[in-house]
Amino acid sequence: MANPPAGIRVVLAGATGLVGGHCLTQLLADEGVAHITVIARHPLTQTDPKLTVQVVDFEHLRGQVRLPEAEAVLCSLGTTHRAAGTPEAFAKVDHIYVAELARLAAARGIPRFILVSAVGADPTSPVFYHRVKGRAEAAVSELHFKAVHLLRPSLLIGDHPEPRPVEDWGKKLAPFWALFAWGPLSHYRPAPAEIVAARMVELAKSDQDGVHIHYFRN
Ligand SMILES: NC(=O)c1ccc[n+]([C@@H]2O[C@H](COP(=O)([O-])OP(=O)(O)OC[C@H]3O[C@@H](n4cnc5c(N)ncnc54)[C@H](OP(=O)(O)O)[C@@H]3O)[C@@H](O)[C@H]2O)c1
Repeated sequence: MANPPAGIRVVLAGATGLVGGHCLTQLLADEGVAHITVIARHPLTQTDPKLTVQVVDFEHLRGQVRLPEAEAVLCSLGTTHRAAGTPEAFAKVDHIYVAELARLAAARGIPRFILVSAVGADPTSPVFYHRVKGRAEAAVSELHFKAVHLLRPSLLIGDHPEPRPVEDWGKKLAPFWALFAWGPLSHYRPAPAEIVAARMVELAKSDQDGVHIHYFRN
């Protein structure tokens, strides 16, 4: 019989983004992580003996991806209305691609799915963004995973390579906003992207079962 791996094996989608990039750096540095399979639409600049990259077209994920045996999937896929161009194109990335990855992971027998969603996610919300995030959460939660972790940050603190005017204004206001975000509003405090990534890595290694929602009140 083959020796068990010295550490967990994970699949990461979103590694070229802000949270996913921090997540990849932390996973590579973590001795408790044996292997990382990144699923991305572009090749990565990093190489590492612990890292495999599968370049896929997410439109045809089912036909293209070969999910390995793994203990967890970490997903920080997402786009913006501005980048996607239409509400439908935004929902395709933030809901449809996430749900398809989750279905493939559940069918592969991967026991844990860790999703970066957003504060306010709710499939019945009148706000389109929150409704899309809520639908993605619901699609993942109804599958047969041992554990689903839904991370709901508010505004992410960190640098995106491209300008994001709405988020950039939010970041300017973040210190004032944080002063007032207490009690029931504490979920709305801005969250550093490294902290969200660190929580993803911690949860990938945890053996807690069930569906859990995580907020960031730092
Ligand atoms: N930014 C915020 O303030 C904020 C607040 C709350 C929640 N969130 C949520 O947190 C999650 C992570 O956010 P982030 O800021 O780290 O996102 P990000 O930097 O925009 O990264 C998004 C990732 O999704 C991938 N992606 C986007 N469109 C894709 C497509 N059509 N096909 C395949 N991959 C695609 C990107 O790949 P490429 O590099 O190839 O584009 C990238 O790896 C997202 O779900 C976001 O909605 C963000």
